[in-house]
Amino acid sequence: MNHLLSIKDLSPEQIHGLIDLAKTLKADYIPYQDALKGKSVVTLFEKPSLRTRVSFDIGINKLGGHCLYLDQQNGAIGQREAVKDFAMNLSRWCDAIVARVFSHQTLEELAEYATVPVVNSLSDLYHPCQGLADFLTLSEHYDDLSQVKLGYIGDGNNVTHSLMYAAAKLGATMVVVCPPGHFPDGQVVTEAQAIAAEHGGALVLSSDLAALEGVDALYADTWISMGDNTPMAAIKAKFQPYQINSKLMSLTGAKYVLHCQPAHREVEITSEVMDSDASLILDQAENRMHIQNAILLELMKD
Ligand code: CP
Ligand code: NVA
Repeated sequence: MNHLLSIKDLSPEQIHGLIDLAKTLKADYIPYQDALKGKSVVTLFEKPSLRTRVSFDIGINKLGGHCLYLDQQNGAIGQREAVKDFAMNLSRWCDAIVARVFSHQTLEELAEYATVPVVNSLSDLYHPCQGLADFLTLSEHYDDLSQVKLGYIGDGNNVTHSLMYAAAKLGATMVVVCPPGHFPDGQVVTEAQAIAAEHGGALVLSSDLAALEGVDALYADTWISMGDNTPMAAIKAKFQPYQINSKLMSLTGAKYVLHCQPAHREVEITSEVMDSDASLILDQAENRMHIQNAILLELMKD
């Protein structure tokens, strides 16, 4: 592993290895408290964040490393100076770059010119740290992830793409249900379906809620992602039937509910479900830190 831009680039063994290491860290950080001693990680954000910013900063601190947060106050990446120069300068000081960007192309460029590892902490196309944290969370309830049937409902987006690749690589089954016109990217679907077939899994897409019957867990994300200026009023009626609520939980028989957050209560998910015993949502948020620490240790090992 040189960089982590997409789960598509990881082998099933690497995904299992990251999940296992994250579990080891979660159980006890003490043996790893100096693992990143003397190392610095720059975390760059073109978009807002709560979970990602805090979990990287506190997580790096738990490993004895130093985290430097950069937002756009000194100019957007690629505007004050070229992305290439940004990458080459940062590489002279830090040991890894974590970046949340509008365009995935910016990450590709950072990775091309940086001489240190680059981690995607969300782009328009993927959110790999999230997808890996979510399968770590599921692994805390299912010994064999290939037996998991995950149902995603709502807008086909960056989080959906990363979940699809993770499920496919792990041989799990994933059902993606979206309103017409809001499906995940066609090329990502085709690739994820091929990967799923190769590993004994399946990826099913539908606009029909009935396709979700029998899933183990239901997953929601915002209906409008950061960087998308569509007004809620323009899509609300179309998305309303795709809300996760207690009726949908009963209809599908799902035991668990997941959401990457930030969540919009009473929009894509009801408070009743979000605050119920079925919710793994806060575990997902906590697990972001453990899986990201596993990723950093793997990428920064000598
Ligand atoms: N899930 C997630 O990435 O949250 P933030 O946008 O708050 O970082
Ligand atoms: N799909 C969402 C995820 C937020 C963590 C977005 O990109 O805004």
